Amino acid sequence: MFPAVSLLTTLILALSIAASSVETRDSPISLPIARRLSTSGGTINLLQHNQSSAAALKTFGGNTFDRRTDIIAVTNHAVSYIAAFGVGSPATTYELIVDTGSSNTWVGANTSYVKTNTSVNTGQSVKVTYDSGFFSGTECTDTVTLGSGLTITNQSIGVASTSKGFCGYDGILGIGPVYLTNGTLKNSTTTTILAVTKNLYSQGPIPQEDVSVSFEPTTTRSYTNGEHIFGGTNATKYNGTIAYTPLTKTHRASYYWGINESVTYETTRFLAETAGIVDTDTTLILIASSAYSKHQSATNATLDQTTGLLRINSTQHSALENPNFNIGNVTTYALTLNGQIWSRALSTYLGGSHSYI
Ligand SMILES: *[C@@H]1O[C@H](CO)[C@@H](O)[C@H](O)[C@H]1NC(C)=O
Ligand SMILES: *[C@@H]1O[C@H](CO)[C@@H](O)[C@H](O)[C@H]1NC(C)=O
Ligand SMILES: *[C@@H]1O[C@H](CO)[C@@H](O)[C@H](O)[C@H]1NC(C)=O
Ligand SMILES: *[C@@H]1O[C@H](CO)[C@@H](O)[C@H](O)[C@H]1NC(C)=O
Ligand SMILES: *[C@@H]1O[C@H](CO)[C@@H](O)[C@H](O)[C@H]1NC(C)=O
Ligand SMILES: *[C@@H]1O[C@H](CO)[C@@H](O)[C@H](O)[C@H]1NC(C)=O
Ligand SMILES: *[C@@H]1O[C@H](CO)[C@@H](O)[C@H](O)[C@H]1NC(C)=O
Ligand SMILES: *[C@@H]1O[C@H](CO)[C@@H](O)[C@H](O)[C@H]1NC(C)=O
Ligand SMILES: *[C@@H]1O[C@H](CO)[C@@H](O)[C@H](O)[C@H]1NC(C)=O
Ligand SMILES: *[C@@H]1O[C@H](CO)[C@@H](O)[C@H](O)[C@H]1NC(C)=O
Ligand SMILES: *[C@@H]1O[C@H](CO)[C@@H](O)[C@H](O)[C@H]1NC(C)=O
Ligand SMILES: *[C@@H]1O[C@H](CO)[C@@H](O)[C@H](O)[C@H]1NC(C)=O
Repeated sequence: MFPAVSLLTTLILALSIAASSVETRDSPISLPIARRLSTSGGTINLLQHNQSSAAALKTFGGNTFDRRTDIIAVTNHAVSYIAAFGVGSPATTYELIVDTGSSNTWVGANTSYVKTNTSVNTGQSVKVTYDSGFFSGTECTDTVTLGSGLTITNQSIGVASTSKGFCGYDGILGIGPVYLTNGTLKNSTTTTILAVTKNLYSQGPIPQEDVSVSFEPTTTRSYTNGEHIFGGTNATKYNGTIAYTPLTKTHRASYYWGINESVTYETTRFLAETAGIVDTDTTLILIASSAYSKHQSATNATLDQTTGLLRINSTQHSALENPNFNIGNVTTYALTLNGQIWSRALSTYLGGSHSYI
């Protein structure tokens, strides 16, 4: 998910992001995440999701409080990663989408905000427009609880009075760059809000502003098999060392956790080095249309009109190669066979057929 600021290129699934090159293994601050397939509204329309995203990508914004964009209501996110997030004392638990592509944290889309003695209403109106919805409401500061009992105080929280596009969720835990909150408070179009990761760092619980994320494919609709780690990594989740790459300087992607990368398939360069963003709110890879066409030709895939995804059969599946994402001139990350396909066990949720991949 991203506030509707346009970008030119790719969105990729986060593997790990980190702001510095000091690696803290086994940070104690772990937040389990559930991968959940949306259960609302029958089959999931990925085509609509794509169209809404593409439309948002073409709309230049920057956040101005009352900016109007044409929002296509997408109640189906297809897949989101959800974490439990406590607000208040005693805490009310909210199920929030964990999103590296935006930075406001807000609740109230489903479970109502419960005021406790730690709630402070700042009186400010807050509003964020995303590619697939929006929320507007009031800003409060409150004590928040992450994972197993770690708390920070005075965290800015948006309390939604209206929201669209978040059916089945309570809101968002925004872990993108703080800059993305600029202009989201009505009274202050030029200041930013201290995001959760910043407060974890400034209040001491984490030694550096790092967030790492691990998630694995599943074949069931809802399953907790991932985790977000604040302030370090979980050494059991990877082998070798983590490679670091600078944030991109390319305009628009540079508002986000943007990186330069290129993609090769067998010996063909699908995509020359270009900037894209790491966005944990989607399991889709949104890529430049030229690279998409090359992928389609190389795999002989056909467009499946129902799902909006490329379709192959089992023979073609056996012949698939791993596209290689080259990041930072040092490291190549192969997108494995199963990483390239939508889980076959779940294809009917997209309106697809079990006969195809
Ligand atoms: C790291 O991941 C393992 C395997 O999922 C889990 O058992 C462990 O609790 C995690 N460690 C930390 C520090 O989060
Ligand atoms: C995705 O959206 C774009 C822009 O609306 C559209 O041109 C394209 O055909 C869509 N792709 C699919 C597979 O529907
Ligand atoms: C708020 O209330 C809880 C009990 O409900 C108490 O433990 C806590 O100390 C109170 N906090 C403040 C800031 O008064
Ligand atoms: C925000 O602006 C409104 C007027 O636009 C004013 O009434 C209100 O007091 C302001 N709130 C804060 C917290 O500055
Ligand atoms: C709470 O945080 C805001 C900035 O977000 C700061 O201006 C304010 O002084 C803080 N209040 C307390 C009590 O720490
Ligand atoms: C909405 O919240 C209520 C409790 O506040 C919960 O029982 C229900 O399952 C939630 N709905 C969704 C779609 O998450
Ligand atoms: C917020 O954005 C405005 C332009 O819209 C810019 O002038 C201002 O410097 C930005 N503030 C921060 C804190 O990034
Ligand atoms: C690390 O390597 C060992 C030995 O090859 C393997 O068993 C394990 O699954 C690997 N761990 C990860 C997270 O890939
Ligand atoms: C990323 O790509 C752009 C455009 O090719 C280039 O100007 C920039 O130096 C590259 N590296 C970074 C870190 O932005
Ligand atoms: C794609 O089709 C061409 C021509 O029919 C064939 O030579 C090639 O092996 C096919 N490739 C895959 C991956 O199916
Ligand atoms: C898959 O499609 C290719 C190209 O249309 C065809 O040659 C092949 O026989 C098909 N395989 C299966 C198992 O249907
Ligand atoms: C890779 O190296 C080239 C040339 O040294 C440089 O322009 C580019 O920005 C580098 N890309 C990344 C992602 O570091």
